[in-house]
Amino acid sequence: MEIDTDVLAAPFELPCGVVLKNRLAKAAMSDSLGDGAGRPTDEQVELYRRWSNGGAALSLIGEVQVDYRYPERPGNLVLWPGADNARLARLADVGSTDGARIWPQLGHAGALAYGPVSRPAGPSALNVEGLQCDALTPSAVDALPGIYARAAARARGVGFSGVQIHAGHGFLLSQFLSPLFNRRSDRYGGSIEARCQLLLAVVREVRAEVGSEFAIAVKINSSDQLEGGLDEDDALVAMSLLGDEGLDLIDISGGTYFPGAPASSDRRSSGPYFVEFARRARTVTDTPLMVTGGFKTRREAVDAVATGATDIVGLARAMALDPDVATKWLGQGGADPQFPSFESPPAGGITAWFTMRLAALANGDEDDFKPSLSEAIETYEARDAGRIATWEGTFGVRSRPATIE
Ligand SMILES: Cc1cc2nc3c(=O)[nH]c(=O)nc-3n(C[C@H](O)[C@H](O)[C@H](O)COP(=O)(O)O)c2cc1C
Repeated sequence: MEIDTDVLAAPFELPCGVVLKNRLAKAAMSDSLGDGAGRPTDEQVELYRRWSNGGAALSLIGEVQVDYRYPERPGNLVLWPGADNARLARLADVGSTDGARIWPQLGHAGALAYGPVSRPAGPSALNVEGLQCDALTPSAVDALPGIYARAAARARGVGFSGVQIHAGHGFLLSQFLSPLFNRRSDRYGGSIEARCQLLLAVVREVRAEVGSEFAIAVKINSSDQLEGGLDEDDALVAMSLLGDEGLDLIDISGGTYFPGAPASSDRRSSGPYFVEFARRARTVTDTPLMVTGGFKTRREAVDAVATGATDIVGLARAMALDPDVATKWLGQGGADPQFPSFESPPAGGITAWFTMRLAALANGDEDDFKPSLSEAIETYEARDAGRIATWEGTFGVRSRPATIE
């Protein structure tokens, strides 16, 4: 049966005036293709060229760090005073071909910062198997909105047309939202309203810094999908509060990186996962919505937009499997990507496989990309281990936390 794809091809104007040329976005994926000193590599530029040429209206660059003390991985980009602005500008430029948009996702890994180059710190000190971190002091928390705002200003300065503030998947701002990580008794902890305060302050300060014509999105969990974590009712309160902050887009996803929790990037069940939550979110906010998670077919994308559940569909793994998926889905006859099936995958194996697939796309050798999951994990870990010395040489080993109790 023919699918009416017009709904995906329609442009969408965000409240700030930035226009997304269609409804398909490349969701944030930490590609770990930085050079170890927080700078984009030629490979990374090529990767974003492929998505931009492939028809995506928007590409989000995963995990671009606002504070080099707390990276997710040493292959992350960093927006700091020593950033290589010429290379960042090149990345912004190739990602903007033919009306496409490219925005960095502003990240801070907090409690989940990469241990070999960091001393992880989140809302509260934790010592559970697989996760040890310090608590950020009140003054360190108060400094965060300014840190995000300065990073956003740098992003604007090199030519990006927006940013996505990362408050999902268990990284710092998601940690503040989540009772699993946030056990604070000050004004940033307790009720969901209190747990939202930091995120709201970040959004306000970023907006004050970048002005009204620059796009600001937030990625947030519909739930942590873990007992004791952020649940859907709390997430709706967060969405309603965010709705008053002049945001351009809220990207709904779910799942958290916490020991024992399934990551949505590692998930194998059929999707899409968060469309029903998005329908509920529509009743509490007028902010445009993007939904990311589990979209595998054009039919699913068309239905989600046509039924009004979302304005934009976010695709992560589909875009890693086929960087031209947007062009295919916008025309007739374009095939859906073939998702690989993995038998008994080890924890993190699927994410490692997809991350290494991004490197293959960047190098144009994806046709020869056939590692086992354990090989993918090994290469992924070894690549980051090989960057530790560069990271420390650039940012200083002892850039480790002056501000932490
Ligand atoms: C390799 C890989 C890296 C990811 N890195 C990020 C990231 O840096 N930031 C983020 O918000 N989500 C990240 N995700 C999660 C995706 O954005 C998305 O929420 C999740 O994969 C579900 O969408 P999908 O079913 O389209 O893959 C990553 C996913 C994959 C597969």
